[in-house]
Amino acid sequence: MSHPAPRNILVTSALPYANGPLHLGHMLEQVQTDIWVRFQKSRGNNCIYVCADDAHGTAIMLTAEKLGITPEQQIADMQASHEADSAGFSIGFDNFYSTHSDENRIWSETIYKRLEANGHIAKREISQAFDPEKQLFLADRFIKGTCPRCKTEDQYGDNCESCGATYSPAELINPVSAISGATPIEKDSDHYFFKLPEFQDMLKQWIDSGTLQPQVANKLREWTEAGLQEWDISRDAPYFGFEIPGAPGKFFYVWLDAPIGYLASFQNYCERENLNFGDYWDLGSQAELYHFIGKDIINFHGLFWPAMLHSAQLRTPTAIYVHGFLTVNGTKMSKSRGTFINASTYLEHLDAEYLRYYFAAKLSASVDDIDLNLEDFVQRVNSDVVGKVVNIASRCAGFLRKGFDNTLTEECAEPELVGEFIAAGAQIGELYELREFNKAIRQIISLADRANQYIDEKKPWVLAKQEGSEQEVHQVCSVGINLFRVLLTYLKPVLPVMAQKSEAFLNCPLDWTDLQAPLLNHKLSKFKPLMTRIEGKQVEAMIEASTQQPPAATLDSKKKKAASKGAPPSPSTIEFDDFAKVDLRIVEIIAADHVEGADKLLRLTLSLGDSECQVFSGIKDAYRPEDLVGKLTVLVANLAPRKMRFGMSEGMVLAAGPGGEDIFLLEPHAGAKPGMKVT
Ligand code: 2FM
Ligand code: ZN
Repeated sequence: MSHPAPRNILVTSALPYANGPLHLGHMLEQVQTDIWVRFQKSRGNNCIYVCADDAHGTAIMLTAEKLGITPEQQIADMQASHEADSAGFSIGFDNFYSTHSDENRIWSETIYKRLEANGHIAKREISQAFDPEKQLFLADRFIKGTCPRCKTEDQYGDNCESCGATYSPAELINPVSAISGATPIEKDSDHYFFKLPEFQDMLKQWIDSGTLQPQVANKLREWTEAGLQEWDISRDAPYFGFEIPGAPGKFFYVWLDAPIGYLASFQNYCERENLNFGDYWDLGSQAELYHFIGKDIINFHGLFWPAMLHSAQLRTPTAIYVHGFLTVNGTKMSKSRGTFINASTYLEHLDAEYLRYYFAAKLSASVDDIDLNLEDFVQRVNSDVVGKVVNIASRCAGFLRKGFDNTLTEECAEPELVGEFIAAGAQIGELYELREFNKAIRQIISLADRANQYIDEKKPWVLAKQEGSEQEVHQVCSVGINLFRVLLTYLKPVLPVMAQKSEAFLNCPLDWTDLQAPLLNHKLSKFKPLMTRIEGKQVEAMIEASTQQPPAATLDSKKKKAASKGAPPSPSTIEFDDFAKVDLRIVEIIAADHVEGADKLLRLTLSLGDSECQVFSGIKDAYRPEDLVGKLTVLVANLAPRKMRFGMSEGMVLAAGPGGEDIFLLEPHAGAKPGMKVT
């Protein structure tokens, strides 16, 4: 078999701010990246994964000041915390560095000088809010005041949390500095700008190159068509960052040197590993370069970054891989609900591999948000990984140990079945490559179902009691173990720890490029439990611990700001945004059936006009099933499906009334058509 030449691939995930601990949103991205990188390595490619802490900016400076430490100390503490959390999730960085490094200073200066030499830097005076007490220019988010529209007090300088208005800080009533409480004044100073509009044509080509996800390309197109603006890349002292060459008292804005941190971290790696940096970053490089990022930072990676690289005569990325936000139980992570979960809190209560699996089962190549539904999480991991995959090995291991000296048969009794499992690797590999992890997992789990079905049919536990069937027990269990080996090889990028334990048990490396033939006449090691079931109480304890967390001592980053600022919403109220997510539809009840073993539930089959769904609803006291058919009701159509004892419930029907016999649905009405949105 001929192997294609190994590819040289450099991969990054977004550099976390050194201003607060990692949370599960960060872990979604790192896990996605890590799975892809591990997959590439497993296929024999040279794939290097670098990252770093994003260590500069006003927020870090202020946090350090608040804590009474130097910014250097603050970023060192945070880096240690980030590295420990990432390691806890088995994120296999080849290098994790810092933007506050010599390499990054040198690269930032070099790139800036190249932009300047090319005429891509402009200097002009601008007027900004200034804190006269702290002697500091104030970014919008550091100014608070009364909303000019709804008059709610204590709102940030860019938008009102109460009515949703967006405005400039100058429009706030009674503005104050969020740092000192002083009234800001307007002050002029020189700023340096990167002339992004000059890259209109270059960016158009990059956007149309076909390497970007369609939604990302559309977004970028929208921005370029609306007209590109020059980008302010300087900040006035005091600022924790790099001073701009030839501009005393002016510093690079944190977002200028952050992506350059990718180069810096990689250079640091090259020096350690004796690799040629230019092979990856020079113009015309044959290496592939991918940035995994969240959808909130598309502008930096899809516009500024390729334009900067282009002007600096460095290669541009092969692609940027954008993922959506993480929601928990269907809504934005929230401190008060205990769903703003720090990586370390998760690790105190649960095994990282559970979440790696769950994320993989949900991730695709799209930018759609990913929901961590905690009930589904427990159910899915227990059922798929413990109940299906691990089960294959645990069902077979005991018989092999007891009767056959832990050694597999000399011949494979089911070469076709094992062959099919091996052949499935081509498609599973393709799905990993395309970042369609959810589809890859679906295929792997359906193979696991087949393996279990095979064992169920053969019933080694029955054979073991029949005289003369020893050989068959040996064959069946050897086949089972071989199927398990193939599955674990496919799952290895997702579950590296379980794969390692399985390698110890199987007494052989799980190597994707070496799967051609089954293991025969091969001695196994002692089987040890590979993964235990998740207990609901572990999840409850994690949620409880997350509600107890003190608010982060940070001001920067939209992500953290959203979670920490303002009074937490009380549990009985929801934000308008949360409500707006509910998709209410008129549906027609086309069938209603009793559910065996449930005294209150009916199984409703609902028509949305062009599709149908099934919902279990507790309205049996009020209606005889036959009376319901033809009635209309309102359905929460985008509720995450719930697996109930009786089957899947794919939504929830709404009805009015105090309950019991008094529950009212809608009577058919000519104007109300199934599928219609309720507004
Ligand atoms: O959004 C963030 O958290 C940034 N710290 C990401 C930086 S990514 C890269 F550009 F450095
Ligand atoms: Zn308002």
